Amino acid sequence: MVWLLIVTTFNTSKMLQSLLPLLLLTLSVHSLQHADPSLAATMEQFSGYSILQPHSFQTTSLSVDALALQNQIDELAAFSDSPSPSVTRVLYTHNDVLGRRYVKTQMELAGLSVREDAVGNIFGRWDGLEPELTAVATGSHIDAIPYSGKYDGVVGVLGAIEAIRVLKRSGFKPKRPLEVISFTSEEPTRFGIGCLGSRLLAGSEDLANSLKTTTDIQNISFLDAARSAGYAKNEDDFSSVFLKKGTYSAFVELHIEQGPILEDEGISIGIVTAIAAPASLKVEFEGNGGHAGAVLMPNRNDAGLAASELALAVERHVLDSGSIDTVGTVGILELHPGAINSIPSKSHLEIDTRDIDEERRNKVVEKIHQSAIKITKTRGVKLSDFHVINQDPPALSDEAVIKAVETATKELNLTSKLMISRAYHDSLFMARLSPMGMIFIPCYKGYSHKPEEFATIQDMSNGVKVLALTLAKLSSQ
Ligand code: GLV
Ligand code: MN
Ligand code: MN
Repeated sequence: MVWLLIVTTFNTSKMLQSLLPLLLLTLSVHSLQHADPSLAATMEQFSGYSILQPHSFQTTSLSVDALALQNQIDELAAFSDSPSPSVTRVLYTHNDVLGRRYVKTQMELAGLSVREDAVGNIFGRWDGLEPELTAVATGSHIDAIPYSGKYDGVVGVLGAIEAIRVLKRSGFKPKRPLEVISFTSEEPTRFGIGCLGSRLLAGSEDLANSLKTTTDIQNISFLDAARSAGYAKNEDDFSSVFLKKGTYSAFVELHIEQGPILEDEGISIGIVTAIAAPASLKVEFEGNGGHAGAVLMPNRNDAGLAASELALAVERHVLDSGSIDTVGTVGILELHPGAINSIPSKSHLEIDTRDIDEERRNKVVEKIHQSAIKITKTRGVKLSDFHVINQDPPALSDEAVIKAVETATKELNLTSKLMISRAYHDSLFMARLSPMGMIFIPCYKGYSHKPEEFATIQDMSNGVKVLALTLAKLSSQ
């Protein structure tokens, strides 16, 4: 790298010849750590960079290859189970496996050494000048919910790999190792639990145990699905995935905002201070069903109407909280047997509710439960399942990581704003392992989880630069 810097600084062959002895001495920065300090000082004078320290470069030397990044995003989007411009990439499906292969290749091309764990979290590592130090990590996810867009998560994986390339091109050498992580199944699509990979990394015993018996809607077990994708070969105990607290000295995730604030206010970078607390519930009602013509209205116990009533109760409880920060969604509502002339005998709902205030969110969960019980009485149905899948606490970003992102943003002359994340992210769980922070970039009209999701090349480029500079700062500490 030092070679490259000197070559670009003195591009005449004559000068190169006269510098050759010096250049040969500079090929390994590592060996220089033990070299004569006066020699290092001379070299620093020639190169304009610090040789013994991870140098603080000019921010102007950070050049993002934004077109290459956009191409990679487009190429990855082609691995999809739904037609363009939508993307559907569900855990351990063929397209997920192809997407993973694509990410691993990009990591390798960027000079990272790649490893995967038993559930397919992918780690690309750049050993620093002091590889025994704890690494600084970054990353996000590449799985995509049905009929979504191509930027959610992907910007934080391919953008992170580009940030590594940016740092390498600039001649930077990190003191601490840098790691890019592509997390398994941030989306809950297939097995009903979000942040599966990062939740396990953070040491969730509950999840590790439940995965032994978890199945998807087609009754394929998690284990079989993982094995079909080449993971979990020798184990059914996923505690091997757990990382120790302190494995990373910092974690920072780049992501599209998934909301309209940055675009509306014309601000380039959002610096996340906290991630809202999500809870997910599964509910099932059972009634007697019957013929849609023959069973008279007073004699029915319609599981479909019970579900509809609960969906409206979710909305009411959320609005009753009185806070704009409380939200609730019934994203899945299925009726059995699903025939126009049959009264639903079973209904299945999946409910997502979130808040930045955990206690207020928990109150909503409790009220939903009470409503479900009440509905069984008024409608004569059975509540065959009321199951809290997850009820996660919010996470706060770390002050030092926020500061590093803020400083990077200022040095790059970009506008920024402190904000909370209403969407959840793998950062929610990485915060349990290490100091955490997030960098948001604007996205078109705040659209996300739909095909219209879009981020401009300029905004992605800004985000990658801020990430690169933040990683440089954090990895030099
Ligand atoms: C993540 O995709 C979320 O639902 O917030
Ligand atoms: Mn998402
Ligand atoms: Mn995401």
